[in-house]
Amino acid sequence: MSDIIFRNVSKAFEGKQVLKDLSFSIKSGECFTILGPSGCGKTVILRLIAGFEIPDSGQIIIGDEVVADPEKGICKAPEERNLGVVFQDYAVWPHKTVRQNVTYPLEMHNVPKEERLPLSQKAIDMVNLHGYEDRLPNQLSGGQQQRVALARALVIDSDILLLDEPLTNLDANLREEMRFEIKEIQKKTGRTILYVTHDQEVALAISDRIAIMTPAGDFCQIADPETVYEDPVSVFSFRFLGVADILECHYRNGKTLLDNDHEFTPLPEDCRSLASSPKFIAGFRPMDVEITRDGNGIECTVERCTLLGNIVDYLLSIDGITFRAEAQTEEAVRKNTIFSPGDKCRAEFVDIHWFPDDHQYEEVFV
Ligand SMILES: Nc1ncnc2c1ncn2[C@@H]1O[C@H](COP(=O)(O)OP(=O)(O)OP(=O)(O)O)[C@@H](O)[C@H]1O
Ligand SMILES: [Mg+2]
Repeated sequence: MSDIIFRNVSKAFEGKQVLKDLSFSIKSGECFTILGPSGCGKTVILRLIAGFEIPDSGQIIIGDEVVADPEKGICKAPEERNLGVVFQDYAVWPHKTVRQNVTYPLEMHNVPKEERLPLSQKAIDMVNLHGYEDRLPNQLSGGQQQRVALARALVIDSDILLLDEPLTNLDANLREEMRFEIKEIQKKTGRTILYVTHDQEVALAISDRIAIMTPAGDFCQIADPETVYEDPVSVFSFRFLGVADILECHYRNGKTLLDNDHEFTPLPEDCRSLASSPKFIAGFRPMDVEITRDGNGIECTVERCTLLGNIVDYLLSIDGITFRAEAQTEEAVRKNTIFSPGDKCRAEFVDIHWFPDDHQYEEVFV
């Protein structure tokens, strides 16, 4: 059993409350990702689990053991928790070679000498560092050092892996490869993975469940990737998961109007409760805008139209209210929707998420 349970955990630093009564649980064998903006407390959660921080109150349970409970005076030392950890700063030992870095946890865990070489080699191979075994960290790139840290976490046979932004220094190809690798490790070994990131793409790709963390240090949504993406509970969740258009609307005489009183897509029946509030929000993704030269939809002015390889990026406006849109280049060419600034076009909005007017945590997106 390698569940992780937080029960009403609070943690403050120098009077600043970072976590307040946080409760959640990670199931054994699950890949659970915490996705949140910088400074919201992701690393603090990981350090609490690893035993490098002590909660002010509450309980942390790993498997069937309480590892931290200040009220009862319980706080197990990090080395007693049997976790594989990659910290955000992935400090590798500068005076040890790659091989020595990766072998070190095996020594700490008293793994018999004859088993150390094959185990360390397996971990080194897993992160594509074959051939670099005798190098020192200062002879490696940042991404390679990060992979040493990953190998060091993978080498011991722990049930739980805590990974804090472990792929940030890798180039795009390797990052993609490594995230599949991490997923594969989870599938093969059944390890519980707690993955911390602010990269929504990685989170969506590898997680069984994602927790969206707010700057207030709580989770506003915990769900599988599809649900978090398709059914965000708040504007914050929606905006955090990708490029988002946000238009303020109000309702008058049976019509949904934009701030400039221009008529917008009607509010659907199941969102009618929003109509009584002075303002509400229509959120949509640029790729969910269908653009035509003179089809159905709302008339817009093209402010900008940029060809970005296989995608065309548009900045459109409805009477001065601007929003982003996107189309596949091939489709745009076929539909003759590559425009010049000042041209008119029509836009239809195919997948709108309607939210109450809520600009909480605006600062995260500026
Ligand atoms: N040892 C500490 N002493 C004082 N404040 C701390 C300490 N550790 C963390 N904090 C504060 O706690 C808050 C949360 O920090 P944390 O490192 O968990 O953020 P994060 O979500 O991991 O951010 P990032 O995405 O930038 O890594 C920050 O305001 C930080 O300054
Ligand atoms: Mg952090």
